[in-house]
Amino acid sequence: MSYQFDETLFLGNEEIDRHHGAIFEQYDRLTDAVQREDMALIREELAKIISSCSGEHVATEERLMEEYAYPQIDSHRQAHRDLDRVISSLTDRIDHDGCTVEIAKEAVEFLFRYVVGHINTFDLELASYISYVIGTMTTLNKFSR
Ligand SMILES: [Fe+2]
Ligand SMILES: [Fe+2]
Repeated sequence: MSYQFDETLFLGNEEIDRHHGAIFEQYDRLTDAVQREDMALIREELAKIISSCSGEHVATEERLMEEYAYPQIDSHRQAHRDLDRVISSLTDRIDHDGCTVEIAKEAVEFLFRYVVGHINTFDLELASYISYVIGTMTTLNKFSR
């Protein structure tokens, strides 16, 4: 399975797209490690992808939602908290059962589907809203000159 960041996942917001692109590059590195069955590398790359799916990226989206007074802020924030729970149940399972190639494969496929689903719904709506607000402000500025 390839985890390419194709144009269907490109939302038109530079900051969000850059983060999403980095998540997909991380998926490629993890897929490589899984294919090589290199457990040390799998653990390392899995930890990196988990932090790139949450942490700074989520904080950036939530900052943008506040900055642009995004009306769907509560449901999008809730979706991020749900993602945190999904990630912690994955890490709990790895801590409990140990990290095997099978678990890593399952984790990467599950996370991939979950993250793509989130990008195609919650993040797409947010990026569209931001570009709508920017477009409206640009138009208003033209008329107020
Ligand atoms: Fe999001
Ligand atoms: Fe996102």
